[in-house]
Amino acid sequence: MPFKTINLQETPSSEVYSLLSGAVAPRPVAFASTTDAAGNVNLSPFSFFNLFSSNPPILVFSPLSRIRDNSSKHTLDNVKATKEVVIHIANYELVEQMSLASTEYDTRVNEFVKAGLTAVPAVMVKPPRVAEAPVAIECKVNDIISLGTEGGAGNLVICEVLLIHVQEEVLDEKGRIDPYKLDAVARMGGDYYIRANGNNIFVLPKPSRHKGMGIDQLPGFIRNSSRLTGNNLARLANLPAPPSLTEADEFRKEPIVAYTISKYSSQPEKLAQELEKLAQKLLEDNQVQAAWKVLLLMQP
Ligand SMILES: Cc1cc2nc3c(=O)[nH]c(=O)nc-3n(C[C@H](O)[C@H](O)[C@H](O)COP(=O)(O)O)c2cc1C
Repeated sequence: MPFKTINLQETPSSEVYSLLSGAVAPRPVAFASTTDAAGNVNLSPFSFFNLFSSNPPILVFSPLSRIRDNSSKHTLDNVKATKEVVIHIANYELVEQMSLASTEYDTRVNEFVKAGLTAVPAVMVKPPRVAEAPVAIECKVNDIISLGTEGGAGNLVICEVLLIHVQEEVLDEKGRIDPYKLDAVARMGGDYYIRANGNNIFVLPKPSRHKGMGIDQLPGFIRNSSRLTGNNLARLANLPAPPSLTEADEFRKEPIVAYTISKYSSQPEKLAQELEKLAQKLLEDNQVQAAWKVLLLMQP
């Protein structure tokens, strides 16, 4: 596969920004409420953001100095002055108001007002929180680390979580955040966003507690299959050991397997293809043991 290799020495920083922010995606968005020393409120989104520690609970986001004139963003000035912030998680319902709040208004302009969002007092910090946001996280700022002196330089705002507000509507019966109900949005390159909802959330069980055998341990006729994808092979290799040949042989009696074998008994190549197809379908339905048994029936 051909690759384009980008040499940073020959690339303007705006292009580096565009490539990296396109590649490191999707990124969650910290919708940050801050105040200046006089109490003027500011609200802006930052997708250079993530969770970096759970004990102590630490979030980090990064307001960059403006690429065009190296000036500093109000949010950065505010956290330097007050060491407090409320970070909200924006969902699809809020996404356009969040984007509107990223407009570069003058210092004194309150983006809660501009974006039509409701400010309610926070409990432990001065900046207000957004009533409409599904999650609001009150934080104190422990440290701010500047990453450079040129336009586009990041500033890591290291935030320690003091208090978390979660809309009950987005919780499941065990009090955990239900990803389907959260309906979070994340930023990709340019003007692209992604919505984490029922159409694109998928479940990938964690690697089994017993060490998976690894793709290198799969029999050659499976590992070198032209049908099975890397994802298919990884799912097979997540088991500590394959089922036994006796178990696989027993599986011949399964109606779909018995039917396939009898239909293609006189065409060994076609039979192998059909069994592989069936195994792939079983893998996609997360029936890994069954897929293994079908594949073992193809063993040369
Ligand atoms: C979804 C989204 C994510 C953004 N992420 C960042 C970011 O990570 N860092 C940054 O410096 N600006 C980011 N911006 C742009 C800022 O929100 C914008 O410069 C804003 O005007 C800053 O406001 P302030 O000067 O009031 O702090 C983002 C904008 C949007 C819409």
